[in-house]
Amino acid sequence: MRIIESALEMQQTALVLRAQGERIGFVPTMGNLHAGHLSLIRIARQQAGTAVVSIFVNPTQFGPNEDYAAYPRTFAADRAACERAGVDLVFHPAVTEMYPEGASVSVTENALSRTLCGASRPGHFDGVCTIVAKLFHLIQPHVAVFGEKDAQQLRIIRRMVRDLRMPVEIVAGPTVREPDGLALSSRNQYLDADQRRQAACLHLALEECRRRFAAGMRDPRELAAAMRALIARHPAARPDYIEIVDNETLAPLTGPIVRPALAALAVRVGAPRLIDNTVLTP
Ligand code: PAF
Repeated sequence: MRIIESALEMQQTALVLRAQGERIGFVPTMGNLHAGHLSLIRIARQQAGTAVVSIFVNPTQFGPNEDYAAYPRTFAADRAACERAGVDLVFHPAVTEMYPEGASVSVTENALSRTLCGASRPGHFDGVCTIVAKLFHLIQPHVAVFGEKDAQQLRIIRRMVRDLRMPVEIVAGPTVREPDGLALSSRNQYLDADQRRQAACLHLALEECRRRFAAGMRDPRELAAAMRALIARHPAARPDYIEIVDNETLAPLTGPIVRPALAALAVRVGAPRLIDNTVLTP
């Protein structure tokens, strides 16, 4: 497995691979890899002959009071995990490789990023779009795999690729869960034992929502209220948002659900902010 740290070397390597007829599958990550990332890598390997993983904690997607400095950096373990997973190439640039001194160009998505995490983390998706666009330019993937856990990110990346006519196919990987339903996330490791137990409430709330939806409940306010009531039974949990939005536009729903909707929530359990979602299809 090859490790590349230079942006120029990465781009040149990608161009050579493409010229040789190699199909490139790409999984962008911020490292601290867990089984969720490994499932995305498996998908990339099924889709392409060369699997590339980027490991880069992207400063521009963290707000001033967020956990950029404390975000776990575990390159030795990540590298070993990539090797075991059959990754061909790891791209691990320094911040200055991705953001040269005086960098002043960014990518903004102006519709889907207004709600949900975009509303509570201003600028977050500008950072995500900017770094993913740069990574696509350097890695030149034919296919890139993103997790469904980050439902809003997935939809925004699809929109960026569509609007900027980027020649890359975006594939979604299903959320990987603990036995109690908690979605895998690098932030789960910060939960103490009691918080960890209570963190299952995100999944339980979504299950409750799905149960009521299956029983015929179509009012998004009633469904969101049912999720809120379930979360409220967990004292360590403080919701950031609990919403039912249109699955395509991510706009909040006012009337009954008549087309696919996304039930999404972000909840702080202790300090960590956890997210999860499910699609409701009438
Ligand atoms: O989902 C993530 O881990 C990040 O947002 C991504 C896509 C790697 C961009 O930094």
